This record gives sequence, C-alpha cells and structure tokens, in this order.
Amino acid sequence: MVISKLKSKLINFAWKLLTYAPGLKDTIYRFYAWRIFEIVPKFKDYIYKIYDKFWYIELIIENKDFDLKKVQINKYDVKINRLRYILNQSDSVMTNLEKNDKDWEKAEIVGDITKKDEYILLKKHFVDKENWHEIQEYSRLVKKLSNNQRVGDCSNEFEFKRLLDQLDQGFHNPELLNNIERVKVGINKSGKYVLISGLFVIAILMLLEIDNVDVEVVIRHPQWKSFSTEFLKFQSIHGELYQPLIHPDLSFKSSYTDERFLIIRENLTIEPGSLLDIGANLGYFCHKFEDLGFDCYAVEIRPSNVHFMKKLRDIEGKTFKIINKSIFDLREKLEFDVILAFNIFHHFLREKELYEKLIDFLNRIKVHTMYFQPHDPREAIMKNAYINFNNEQFVNFIISNSCLNNFELVNKQTDGRTRPIYRIFE
Ligand SMILES: C[S@@+](CC[C@H](N)C(=O)[O-])C[C@H]1O[C@@H](n2cnc3c(N)ncnc32)[C@H](O)[C@@H]1O
Repeated sequence: MVISKLKSKLINFAWKLLTYAPGLKDTIYRFYAWRIFEIVPKFKDYIYKIYDKFWYIELIIENKDFDLKKVQINKYDVKINRLRYILNQSDSVMTNLEKNDKDWEKAEIVGDITKKDEYILLKKHFVDKENWHEIQEYSRLVKKLSNNQRVGDCSNEFEFKRLLDQLDQGFHNPELLNNIERVKVGINKSGKYVLISGLFVIAILMLLEIDNVDVEVVIRHPQWKSFSTEFLKFQSIHGELYQPLIHPDLSFKSSYTDERFLIIRENLTIEPGSLLDIGANLGYFCHKFEDLGFDCYAVEIRPSNVHFMKKLRDIEGKTFKIINKSIFDLREKLEFDVILAFNIFHHFLREKELYEKLIDFLNRIKVHTMYFQPHDPREAIMKNAYINFNNEQFVNFIISNSCLNNFELVNKQTDGRTRPIYRIFE
C-alpha cells in the first residue's frame, strides 16, 4: 500500500489539530470505542465499511503512545535455527548498520552453521575426541588471527586458547557458556536474525542438542523498526492483539496464547491435508499447521488483519493462502480435511441474516473434521442476539446443518476463558 506523502502530511495535520480536544482524540483513535455502534446492526455495517476503507490511517498518525522503545525487549530466547545469517567483519560494519543498507547485505547467509570452521572444530574435539591443535580447522582459525582477523571475540592465539579452555568447561556445564561469549544479534529489514557474535556458543549448543539460545538484540534495521511501529499502532488502537505473534521480536500482548494450538496438536487424530481457518485474524494457526505439513487457507474479512497477516507470512517464509473476503463469499474451494472455526460462528448468531448465511455455508462445505471454539453464552455481546445457543446446542446445530455427525469435547477452557474446544467429525 503506497500512501502519498501529501496525504500522510494532511492526516497528521488533522490529527495534531485534535490535540485541542484530547478526549475526542482518544476516543477516535481507540477503535474498540467505536464498537458501541455494534449494538445497532445497521450502524455496525457502516462502521466496518468505513473502517475497512480507511483503516490505513492508523499506520500514518503519530502519537506518543507509539514509542517502540517502551515495549521492545532486547534480551530473549530464540530457536537456534532462526540464526541463518552471520555478519562478518562485525566491528567495522556494525557502526554503519543504522544507516547503510549495503552493510546489512554484507551479512553472509550461512544457512548451515555445521559447515562453518568454528562448528567443525568443536565437533571434531567434543564428538570425535581429537585434540584442539591437531585439528585442521584449528590451524585455519589461528591463521586468520595471525592475519589480524578476529575469531569469535578473540584477536590473538592466546585469547583463542583461553576461549577453547572455557568451551571445554562449558561443554560439561552449559550454564558456564553464558560467561563466555554473549550471543548478539541484529534484525535485518525482513525480520531475519543476523548473528553478530557468539558463533562458538551456538555451535556448542547445537552439539549438545539444545534448540534455544538467549540472545541480545543490539541493532534493528530501520525498515524492521518501522514495521514494528506499524504493529504497535495497530495493537494500541485495538487494545491488544487477539493472537500471539510467531516472530520473537514482536513482543506484543495478545488475548490468546499458544495453549489452544498445543491442546489441538495433542489431540490431533488426522494426517496432514487441507485446512481452512475461518476468521484467521493474523494467521497464527496457519503458521502452526503449515509447520505440521498442512496445506492451509486463511479466510479473513478485515483488510487491516490481512495486511499484517500477509507481512507476517512472508517474514516467516510461509506459503499458506490468504483470502480476503467473508467466509460466506468463499467460492475458490469448498472441500477441506480440517476446518478451524474458533471464536467466529457466534458472531453470526447475532443477526438473522448472518444466521441464515451460516446455515447455508455449513450445508455447502465438505469436511472431515472441524475444531470448533464457541462463545460463552453468558457473554454481554450476545445480549440482543437473534439466537443464543449453549455450547452443546451450538455443536448440535453444526451437526444438523453439515456433513459432520459426531463430536467430542477436547478441552473445557483455554487461556482462562470459558470457551471450550470441540472436535466435530464424520
Ligand atoms: C474473534 S476473532 C477470532 C480469530 C481466530 N479465529 C482465533 O480464534 O484466534 C474473529 C475473526 O474473524 C474475522 N471475521 C469476522 N467475520 C468474518 C467473516 N464473515 N468472514 C471471515 N472472517 C470474519 C474477524 O475479522 C476476526 O479476525
């Protein structure tokens, strides 16, 4: 989406004018405050139509609430397999990283750390039990040092030998590894981690078959910062995100955690196949099920969610299909092995027209298994609903209107909310 500079200036000017009416400004910018109009279905339709057309204004306006530094965490753990890039010549290049795209490009894609001299040296020593100085890679690294190149944190052979002594101790007591080399990373423009220091520690953790490592983020590419700020604006307008984010650097609060996915994975009775996620939101479940080998389709009505869902999908290199339309307009594909219908169908019980569309949709779709998360019928949003089912009535409603015949309760509540998960099957 390209927004002209002029348009963006005008929007920010109007936004600044609102500083004279802080209460009004706050209400306008908190999207959930607008939801009061949801009580009247006609208003609701207008509000969402306007929102879907102009939601991108959220990304333009400036506000002190959007200070990334206040929310961003710099020390956390990541999966080692995210560290696929290494920044060589780190000292000279580091200082320029803030401004210079070319220096980021100097990061070498290692993909496979096991092919680096540092890893091979450690493997030959710790696994094949060879002496350090009899290993070919040892001589190569020492040669690098004598050519005034750094190896890890070391600038000469004496420091290098001391490092290897520390690694000997760390191999038998991994806690000591924290004192050896700090694992420092940067994040490039597309959210990839670039290893700046700590390759020896990473290598030894891999040999110990440890999957995660504590890192310190010391630098972020300006484009990554601006994407994270967009996200912060989005989150701040909506109160909090609905789903957890996959990328470890996007540490925004969400209503739901990984709990639902972990419960389903434990109870998964089917082989990977096609999967439809209805009301996919930010695509969390498609990321997770694609990892399990499913061919996923995310259907989501809100362009704002789709904007972020697409970016998050591309950042993670996922390939699931994103369809930006109402589930009732889905025509592309109507047969799936699995359907996820989490926290979505009850919205369609609130109006007669949507209720009828839901019945029609359930009759049209072919599916073997549906994971279904209904609402809690006591919730306030259902007060004036056209029809309100308790959980079992809702499951039976799905069974009587679809090709599915049986059900089981998988879990009574998740993330502290009384919204159970059901498996409904043929
Ligand atoms: C309450 S959230 C649930 C998100 C997700 N299913 C979960 O449980 O994590 C409902 C989502 O469905 C989307 N949605 C609402 N009506 C829809 C429709 N008719 N077709 C597709 N998506 C819809 C909303 O934009 C929102 O992202």
